[in-house]
Amino acid sequence: MKKLLFINACIRREESRTLAVAKPILQKLAERYEIQQLDLTDDDRLPVTATLFARRGQEGLSAEDLEAGRLVAEADRIVIAAPFWDMSFPAVLKVFFEHISAPDLTFVNLEDGNTKGNCRAERLLLITTRGMEIPTGSPLDQGTSYLKALGWLWGIPQVDTVAAWGMDVTDEETRTRRLELAVAEGLKISEDF
Ligand SMILES: Cc1cc2nc3c(=O)[nH]c(=O)nc-3n(C[C@H](O)[C@H](O)[C@H](O)COP(=O)(O)O)c2cc1C
Repeated sequence: MKKLLFINACIRREESRTLAVAKPILQKLAERYEIQQLDLTDDDRLPVTATLFARRGQEGLSAEDLEAGRLVAEADRIVIAAPFWDMSFPAVLKVFFEHISAPDLTFVNLEDGNTKGNCRAERLLLITTRGMEIPTGSPLDQGTSYLKALGWLWGIPQVDTVAAWGMDVTDEETRTRRLELAVAEGLKISEDF
């Protein structure tokens, strides 16, 4: 069975609307993929400070980061669930990328100065919910654009986003309908994901 890596950055855990959208989609994907979860909701990786950067120069990536980086590079598909925070996603996810996105792991530095993606996955799916009325693809949606750029670096050609927005500014009926629509869109994408 092919492997799907689920990266969970839904900090509010069981309270999370984003996780509630992700669950049925992952359930559907579990029919075709072996799902492995990386739970970042209490991840204690620190931002790469000067000290950490110098240590990394001497010692390379930690065994833990190397293992996580390999999971990312070798997954057949990647699903990331992360709420929309500060116009993109929680810092815990960015810090995770900072730790595991590395040459000869998720990408390769070529002799001509270019890079080549080194990830097996052909597709990555971001599942998110946004508080304000910010639709996917708006210039204000820096979560989707960031992950598309990272997908380019890692060699993942297709990055899709499933989202519900206006979660903190609409009435309950609208919210519920939009969350249901997001699940339906995710289930549709799952069919050929
Ligand atoms: C720390 C924090 C930062 C947020 N930043 C934004 C933001 O920049 N733009 C926005 O539209 N909503 C923002 N929100 C609202 C969330 O995107 C919204 O409530 C979302 O549905 C939360 O997802 P969750 O239920 O999965 O945690 C923020 C919420 C929190 C807690």
